[in-house]
Amino acid sequence: MSPRTAWQAMARRPLRFLTSSWPWRAVTYLATGVLVGSVALAVFAAGLTVGLALLPVLVGLVVLVGVVLFAVAVARLERRRLLLVDRDGLPDPHRPAGGGGFRAWATTRLTEQVTWRELLFTLVSAAALCWLDLLVLAFSFGVPALTFEALWVDRTTWPWAAFGVVVLLASPYTVTSWAGARGALVRTLLAPRDGELGESLTQVRASRARLLDSFDAERRRIERDLHDGAQQRLVSLGMTLGLMRLDVAPGSPLAGRLTEAEGQLADAQRELRRLVRGLSPPVLADHGLVAAVEDHASRFPVPVTVDLQLPGRLPAKTETHLYYVINEAMTNIARHSGARSARVYGRYHSDLLVLEISDDGRGGADPEAGSGLTGLADRVTALDGRMRVSSPPSGPTLLHVEVPCHFG
Ligand SMILES: Nc1ncnc2c1ncn2[C@@H]1O[C@H](COP(=O)(O)OP(=O)(O)O)[C@@H](O)[C@H]1O
Ligand SMILES: [Mg+2]
Repeated sequence: MSPRTAWQAMARRPLRFLTSSWPWRAVTYLATGVLVGSVALAVFAAGLTVGLALLPVLVGLVVLVGVVLFAVAVARLERRRLLLVDRDGLPDPHRPAGGGGFRAWATTRLTEQVTWRELLFTLVSAAALCWLDLLVLAFSFGVPALTFEALWVDRTTWPWAAFGVVVLLASPYTVTSWAGARGALVRTLLAPRDGELGESLTQVRASRARLLDSFDAERRRIERDLHDGAQQRLVSLGMTLGLMRLDVAPGSPLAGRLTEAEGQLADAQRELRRLVRGLSPPVLADHGLVAAVEDHASRFPVPVTVDLQLPGRLPAKTETHLYYVINEAMTNIARHSGARSARVYGRYHSDLLVLEISDDGRGGADPEAGSGLTGLADRVTALDGRMRVSSPPSGPTLLHVEVPCHFG
């Protein structure tokens, strides 16, 4: 799958990244950032001065309101521009203005919380971000240009020109790093908060989460029933067989059949234990996600490297969801990939848990072809996370999951 963000693109092999459109998109993003930022700065400076000076005669208030509405427009432009470095973009969190006309529109905007976040963002953008854009562009392209010009005039400055060459060669990475960081900041500040996208969306998400919760509760019930019911019956059946053996002459044909029955019973018990463990492993509840995944991996038909580093225990619901995500991804590896090895990787950083489950198999995983991968996406969505699959036709397959969470 092709990368969705500038940062993901940068993580690919250098040649693929350098020949893609991403470095150019990043340059465009920063260049237009300088442009938007300087216009915003001019409008703010003029608007605030005039607005504050004329405040006593009320015209100033109108000017100040104008400045706020201008920030809404800038934020809207920023959401568009974000598409340059993040293909997913951001939805517009504003309520549609009731009625027609500018007044209705302006009143709606001024009563929304998101407007004030946008004002803050535009201020930050004008005061700092656009300068940083300029600085990165100047360093990446201006510095090399200056050193080459110096070399033209004076041959002895060649060490500087060499430095210029290095800076220029690194520039796609320099520019894309900052463009990606800026995109992430825009996403953080301008993303709609809960409820801002209207009732229906949050409701859908909530009911989906509810469905999964009841699914997990049902799983636990079945597990308990199996444990207390079927398993106990098998245990007492074993005891009955043991008592029968006391009455049977050793070496008789009946004794042979009894041994056979005991063997079958042991198989059934093993099978049932495996089933129960598969439903919800006791290690998950007792020792947490890392232990449960390591336990599962140790009994897995394909060799799995587990490299999970988490600072502690997660909330139970998150642990259950993530366990099943990893579990289903691993089941897919065993069933479909033909891989020789697999890896489960996880790190926690700045409130974001990143999981990667990968294999070196034949690839071609297709969410449309079954219900497993979409089920995974449901679980990840229920945790407000994101999931991506990369699985080109000849492999390898990578499942990338990001979930915001806090450790208790
Ligand atoms: N790790 C993988 N390697 C190769 N193919 C995969 C992998 N995971 C999934 N697939 C393919 O994607 C399809 C969809 O997977 P999934 O949604 O889990 O459905 P299911 O496992 O029920 O078939 C599978 O049928 C399989 O062909
Ligand atoms: Mg599957």
